[in-house]
Amino acid sequence: MSSIVVVGGTSGLGLEIARHYAEKGDRVTLTGRDAGRAAAAAKDVGGDTTGLALDLAAPHDIAAALAGIESVDGLVLAAIERDLNTVADYDIARALRLVTLKLVGYTEVVHALAPRIATDGAIVLFGGLAKERPYPGSTTVSTVNGGVAGLLNTLVVELAPIRVNAIHPGIVGDSPYWRDRDLSHVIARTPCGQLARMTDIVDAVAFLLGNRAVNGVSLNVDGGWLLG
Ligand SMILES: NC(=O)c1ccc[n+]([C@@H]2O[C@H](COP(=O)([O-])OP(=O)(O)OC[C@H]3O[C@@H](n4cnc5c(N)ncnc54)[C@H](OP(=O)(O)O)[C@@H]3O)[C@@H](O)[C@H]2O)c1
Repeated sequence: MSSIVVVGGTSGLGLEIARHYAEKGDRVTLTGRDAGRAAAAAKDVGGDTTGLALDLAAPHDIAAALAGIESVDGLVLAAIERDLNTVADYDIARALRLVTLKLVGYTEVVHALAPRIATDGAIVLFGGLAKERPYPGSTTVSTVNGGVAGLLNTLVVELAPIRVNAIHPGIVGDSPYWRDRDLSHVIARTPCGQLARMTDIVDAVAFLLGNRAVNGVSLNVDGGWLLG
């Protein structure tokens, strides 16, 4: 049995990743901002799953929130709080929150847990292809997903031999944020004719966490969207 931590595991992709490992019989810790919501998600996932509250946008408090985790074999950083920002109508407070969450918050989680991550353990960072292909309101999302690529490089070197990889999904058609929107224009530009589903992302994360030779990889999971 492995110990898997999913930061941002109360909804969307993180929740499905938590479910995947719980169903395999692993010990799972999933996090969200609210303790009650995290506990409810853990109960829904079932198995040996615990919910934990931490706010990545308040990085000084992260280490204390993670103090109860004894050991980590797999760490997935999936949280996001989208800010719908544009340069023309720039909300600095929202931008600061998201930049702190994804770049400082993700890094502080790794810093806090690093001494407890197994030497043959692995980390997956979530970026996203808004960094290559922005959508209206994605200014900060595009920025932080670009930052994830740099964070990956330094973590691979600093944490060796722990492996670190990043996943950059395209638009995941059945994820809660996108599933009620008209995505026909995105599908039209996707060479394989269908958008990635949450199950495709879970599969890719399991590959990145599990394959002992894959390290420092930024994996696009987008049905070839960038070429369409
Ligand atoms: N969905 C897509 O199509 C897509 C495409 C490309 C990239 N991605 C990336 O994939 C990851 C997951 O996306 P998603 O769509 O599945 O997200 P989501 O459904 O919106 O879930 C976001 C998660 O982040 C947590 N969270 C939000 N603010 C937080 C904070 N300040 N501190 C700690 N946790 C916080 C939420 O927990 P609570 O609400 O319980 O606090 C929730 O568990 C993100 O990194 C996103 O950038 C997604």
